[in-house]
Amino acid sequence: MQANQVSPIDKQLLIAARLARQNAWCPYSHFQVGCALLDEIGRIHVGANVENASYGLTVCAERAAFFSAVGQGTRKIKRVVVVTGTQFPTPPCGACRQVLAEFGLDFQVGLAGITGDGIEWHNMADLLPRAFTFNASQE
Ligand code: THU
Repeated sequence: MQANQVSPIDKQLLIAARLARQNAWCPYSHFQVGCALLDEIGRIHVGANVENASYGLTVCAERAAFFSAVGQGTRKIKRVVVVTGTQFPTPPCGACRQVLAEFGLDFQVGLAGITGDGIEWHNMADLLPRAFTFNASQE
């Protein structure tokens, strides 16, 4: 496959994240985010950001997808795609980076817009350098 081509699974993740994004509940920021997460047995889990009148209770799309996946039994992340409506892809916030890193840092996070096939890929380990993990908390 050529460097600029998107694999079938990444295309699926992109479509799933775009569809999830449409379900975002964001009447305060009007910033819709969708996330699709591929787990260790090939399932795709999705999430959208959910805001609240008590603003601080907002949950980002990435954490919504992760929590849903864990509730379905996921214990390993293979890939994540995040879709926003911005001209340039938007990386996950710090809280979402920490949560996504819970099962390890060895996977790719793809950032994409709502049109086109372009996905900007990052290693999770690069998105969260010197991460705080369970092992790091053991003396
Ligand atoms: N948001 C996400 O869903 N993911 C991120 O990584 C950053 C921010 C959401 C939260 C809020 O609903 C809106 O984007 C504006 O911050």
